[in-house]
Amino acid sequence: MENINFFSENLDVQNKTVMLRLDFNVPIKDNIIQDDTRINLCFPLIKTLIKKKAKIIILSHLGRPKGQRVPELSLDPIHRYLKKKLNTNVYFYKGNLKRNIMEEFSYNKEGDIILFENIRYFKEEEENDEVFAKRLGSICDIYINDAFSCSHRKQASIHKITKFVKKSYAGFLMKKEINAINFITKNKKRPVTCIIGGAKISTKINVISNLIKEVDNLVIVGAMANNFISFKGYRVGKSLVEKNTKNIIEKIIKQADEKNCEIIIPEDCKVGKELSGNGINKKLKDIKKDEIILDIGKETIKSICSKIDNSNTLLWNGPAGYFENENFKDGTMSIAKKISENTKNKSLISILGGGDTLSAVNKSKEKLFFTHLSTAGGAFLEYLEGKDLPGLSVLK
Ligand code: 3PG
Repeated sequence: MENINFFSENLDVQNKTVMLRLDFNVPIKDNIIQDDTRINLCFPLIKTLIKKKAKIIILSHLGRPKGQRVPELSLDPIHRYLKKKLNTNVYFYKGNLKRNIMEEFSYNKEGDIILFENIRYFKEEEENDEVFAKRLGSICDIYINDAFSCSHRKQASIHKITKFVKKSYAGFLMKKEINAINFITKNKKRPVTCIIGGAKISTKINVISNLIKEVDNLVIVGAMANNFISFKGYRVGKSLVEKNTKNIIEKIIKQADEKNCEIIIPEDCKVGKELSGNGINKKLKDIKKDEIILDIGKETIKSICSKIDNSNTLLWNGPAGYFENENFKDGTMSIAKKISENTKNKSLISILGGGDTLSAVNKSKEKLFFTHLSTAGGAFLEYLEGKDLPGLSVLK
């Protein structure tokens, strides 16, 4: 946070080309945006820039297309959404960013927006490629990163680009996120419980060993828990698991012991035969070869709720199950409701993070209360660990 250059409303951006790196990595199904929270949170900065007559270029990724033009991961639905919600011209640029593009953008008008197609369609983005970053940098006067949720990624539009732009800043949402997380972590009250779930295992499993030092209870749910269940010798059927995690899990267990951190993993689960099917509650020992663990079970929900009751600070990242299917949403919803109740009635300090966690919580029909809802998943966890995020260090 210290020394980060934050964008200020007083800066003169009229007639200047401002490149915004945002996080429009939102759930999309059949071309329809399922949860627009992340997009809407970017509007204060976009609208300020429109009002101040900047020429705006927006970059974002969607999913992990690995350098390929995967049609399902096009930003086309986002383009349509922006056109509908913003009172200005919004163009969609699908051209090849691997050649000299400067000319094409020199006729941009004040207050207009050009949204670039998924930046990860170019492998150079994830490779943090110097030439690619230079090309992006060459078309703007000012660069603003307002994607805290991507700032743990050392990628061209987040990291290397700043080398080629004279002025780089952090945006409004970035400031809000960092302030909130700093405030909460500085004022946290013990016992601290951290619940980690979700399907993105590889990016989180290493983070766990560092979080152990900061928390009293670590609850592991979602696909992440499958590794621990399998480590304990249970069959996990066709569930999602990460390869070669034995050593890291042993290290996590040893560290937790040394630091007096209790690790809680599911004691039962809800399994199905396919993502879209029904589920049944099972003890871990009864999981069959053709079954997939898709939610935590009833006993596990009870144990987690009682842990939440005994906590004064709660960090939660990643759903407990495949909440997109109604049959597997109970674990996630029960956790959300319990945290909300205790935030409202028992002054629990709660921070929730991650795109999937946000969309799960937004699916609730009841009004839920949390101290802070962060757009960031992996970045939020790495920031909590105290790591210097590559996207932030270049803005100092
Ligand atoms: C997220 O959803 O956490 C961010 O958009 C980053 O996505 P990534 O994990 O694919 O880099």
